[in-house]
Amino acid sequence: MNQVLETMESNEILQSEMMYIRIMEYSVETIIIHADYKIIYINQVGSEFLRGTKEQIIGSNCLDIIQDDMKDMIRERIEHGMCGEEPLEVIEQAIIRCDGTLVDVEFYCQPVQFGNRRAMQTVFRDITIRKETEKMLYDRQKMASIGQIAAGIVHEVKNPLTSVKGFLQLLKENNPHPYLIAMESELEKAIDTLSNLLQVAKPDLYSEPITEIDLCKELSSLLFLFQDKLYDIEIETDFQDCDKHIFGKKNMYLKAFFNLIKNAIEAMPGKGKLRIEHYYQSDSVHVKISDTGVGIPKDKINLLGTPFYSNKSDGTGLGLTQVFSTINDHGGQITVHSVVDRGTTVHMKLPENPVGFEMH
Ligand SMILES: Nc1ncnc2c1ncn2[C@@H]1O[C@H](COP(=O)(O)OP(=O)(O)OP(=O)(O)O)[C@@H](O)[C@H]1O
Ligand SMILES: [Mg+2]
Repeated sequence: MNQVLETMESNEILQSEMMYIRIMEYSVETIIIHADYKIIYINQVGSEFLRGTKEQIIGSNCLDIIQDDMKDMIRERIEHGMCGEEPLEVIEQAIIRCDGTLVDVEFYCQPVQFGNRRAMQTVFRDITIRKETEKMLYDRQKMASIGQIAAGIVHEVKNPLTSVKGFLQLLKENNPHPYLIAMESELEKAIDTLSNLLQVAKPDLYSEPITEIDLCKELSSLLFLFQDKLYDIEIETDFQDCDKHIFGKKNMYLKAFFNLIKNAIEAMPGKGKLRIEHYYQSDSVHVKISDTGVGIPKDKINLLGTPFYSNKSDGTGLGLTQVFSTINDHGGQITVHSVVDRGTTVHMKLPENPVGFEMH
């Protein structure tokens, strides 16, 4: 009698376990179950998301997908979670997939009973699109507030400078003096900088019609402008899908690519390689500009695009401000990947048609 009851009970356990696995298998989110850090289950969606096979993933260490500097913190959370019953709070991290690529996810862990073992269930949600949208919004807001401040300052400062310039000219006519010529030319530089700032930070004031742009052709022509600076720099171009044209404000785009190529060349004072890629993917034209130059430290990446941020003695620090505002205003996305002493890659994803501009 006891044996019959036991068999019925274990049948029930088996059935509820099968049901549990079926629910996880049909989930649209990645679910892994791990015990003692060893992955003992992953659903099909999960193995596809992690870009590996189930065989490859099951049996591996669940900390393998965590970046090195986060491993201790995650280990501690798992230890802590295993002592309780409640799910742990959701955290956001970039995890490493089987092919080595990083992907932004949010995940939570919950202690579960899996078969006869106490284990941890972790559910991952892909948040790449949310992150990209957040970054785009953040960049747009940053640029919009910078634009407002800049426009205000330019307005307040440019008018008095222009009248000083007028008086200087009058003075010069009556008392020609070499100092007055120097003063006038310095003043012109200051007025120029202010006009530039207005143009890059508030590009809508710079009205230009939207036209069709053949980027492969334009990028090749732009490279010619740098010929005198390219003795020691090898140039590699990989232009694909050149029949895919984009629409936008051509001069703004050209100025942006000019600024990026200029930065890349300036980052390689000795020898180096400048690589420009063009291809079409997922309804967007992608342009990558890479150099093998000095690179940018991790803690400075966030400063890129901030007006006047420059570490060059003769830099205005407005180059990337113009680049970021142009790409954002066309509804594109821009990411910078850089390793100090190895080089920098600026990746732009440009929509075929600009989002947000009125088409003319
Ligand atoms: N490809 C790159 N490699 C290394 N550092 C870079 C690169 N691009 C930009 N930077 C860093 O970002 C800073 C800001 O760039 P940005 O183009 O805005 O201004 P700048 O180049 O200093 O001056 P300007 O463009 O006005 O001549 C640079 O001073 C440099 O430190
Ligand atoms: Mg620059």
